[in-house]
Amino acid sequence: MAAHLCLSQTPCYSFKPSSKQFLCANSSRISCSLEISAAQKNRRPAEEDIRDEARRHNVSQSSGLSAKYVPFNADPTSTEEYSLDDIVYRSRSGGLLDVQHDMEALKRFDGQYWKALFDSRVGKTTWPYGSGVWSKKEWVLPEIDSDDIVSAFEGNSNLFWAERFGKEVLDGMNDLWVKHCGISHTGSFKDLGMTVLVSQVSRLRKMNRAVLGVGCASTGDTSAALSAYCAAAGIPAFVFLPANRISIAQLVQPIANGAVVLSLDTDFDGCMRLIREVTAELPIYLANSLNSLRLEGQKTAAIEILQQFNWEVPDWVIVPGGNLGNIYAFYKGFKMCQELGLVDRMPRLVCAQAANANPLYLYYKSGWKDFTPVKASSTFASAIQIGDPVSIDRAVFALKNCDGIVEEATEEELMDATTLADLSGMFICPHTGVALSALIKLRKSGVIGRTDRTVVVSTAHGLKFTQSKTAYHSKEIEDMACRYANPPVQVNADFGSVMDVLKKKLSPLQ
Ligand SMILES: Cc1ncc(COP(=O)(O)O)c(C=O)c1O
Repeated sequence: MAAHLCLSQTPCYSFKPSSKQFLCANSSRISCSLEISAAQKNRRPAEEDIRDEARRHNVSQSSGLSAKYVPFNADPTSTEEYSLDDIVYRSRSGGLLDVQHDMEALKRFDGQYWKALFDSRVGKTTWPYGSGVWSKKEWVLPEIDSDDIVSAFEGNSNLFWAERFGKEVLDGMNDLWVKHCGISHTGSFKDLGMTVLVSQVSRLRKMNRAVLGVGCASTGDTSAALSAYCAAAGIPAFVFLPANRISIAQLVQPIANGAVVLSLDTDFDGCMRLIREVTAELPIYLANSLNSLRLEGQKTAAIEILQQFNWEVPDWVIVPGGNLGNIYAFYKGFKMCQELGLVDRMPRLVCAQAANANPLYLYYKSGWKDFTPVKASSTFASAIQIGDPVSIDRAVFALKNCDGIVEEATEEELMDATTLADLSGMFICPHTGVALSALIKLRKSGVIGRTDRTVVVSTAHGLKFTQSKTAYHSKEIEDMACRYANPPVQVNADFGSVMDVLKKKLSPLQ
């Protein structure tokens, strides 16, 4: 069915096919743009904020659309399901849950409708659509009241054309892009999922459900995002971190945002076990990606990539993987766009792991025969130092269904790739270095072609990882050549000494 379009932002908040607002302009772009300019003249009253304004325009439920929890990859005959307002993390059999949308209801609108709706919301301040996540609200949490949403207008991140890296490091690759999910509110892609989870918690608390706080185990970024969104909403946050295994920049974020920070003498997997036990006993809501709500936000990065390519599908998307929720989230975002007619095919996904924490890679290499958790060793890509990934089943499902690949990167490979990316004008985290290493290998083996449109997902901001960059450029890393190090030159503070250094540097360029 060709649905009715309403491209205006302000007067046409609610998603009600039957309402007069929804039917505005009968799909005419010209009349809609006239409405936009009329709306812009009507600034909201001075005493009103953007939440009040949304309330006045009744931006609430997307009528007719709904979502629920079901067991992940359930048997089609299964009737097990839960409301998103239930506090439940696992299925009856102990398996993972998934958020299932009423696809038939979403299909009442065609692909053109969804593209136009999503495109109309980008870059605005309209609550809550100014967020890259909530601009896709109907596909994320269709039933949440916009009043309950806790958002920092996350998402809408830069899709960076990696021109020099592609041409110089990858032998003339001309269609290489880096999706900078880490250029975000707390510096990682975790914001995309955390806005959804904390919004749902805010809703549950308003419903007087027993949720006194929210907790997570973390390799750094999840705790930063959880703490920030909880602080914004005034909800207590509890974070369990492996002592001495995360960067100082990551550790300081939850501290600064006022969370209760428990630094535990164990690794991430140990923290994860503890938080699951604790949240089973106390009225603390579990925020780890075991909780499928977060993946609903994270999947919007995939939709955004398609949107940024004007709804053209890239050939490859490479995602660094640890607990393996994100690779599934990307799959889900792309799949929804295909199923709802926004695009006609799926990209192939590559999950990239650090060789020191590679259970998925080993499983893939065994022909998906033999999954065994590993004891993850120390890696510069500390946020993916996970040996027993919670979302293993989700990742395998995603990769099998898009002809996906798993690659790995040694410490030297990932640090070299990170440095080369930085030397071409980026400033990436080591996890993105893992993904770029995978790309380098797949280009060398010819699996990824020179002209294939390829997106590397950058998951965190490089500024969180200055310790490893400093160690590399100081050539202080044991057993690593640090071939691309660019250490500062120690020079006497006099004209002659400075000139000598500069002449030496300039001479090869002449
Ligand atoms: C920076 C960064 N990259 C990648 C990942 C991996 O994501 P996932 O655990 O969903 O595989 C994480 C997760 O903690 C992360 O913080």
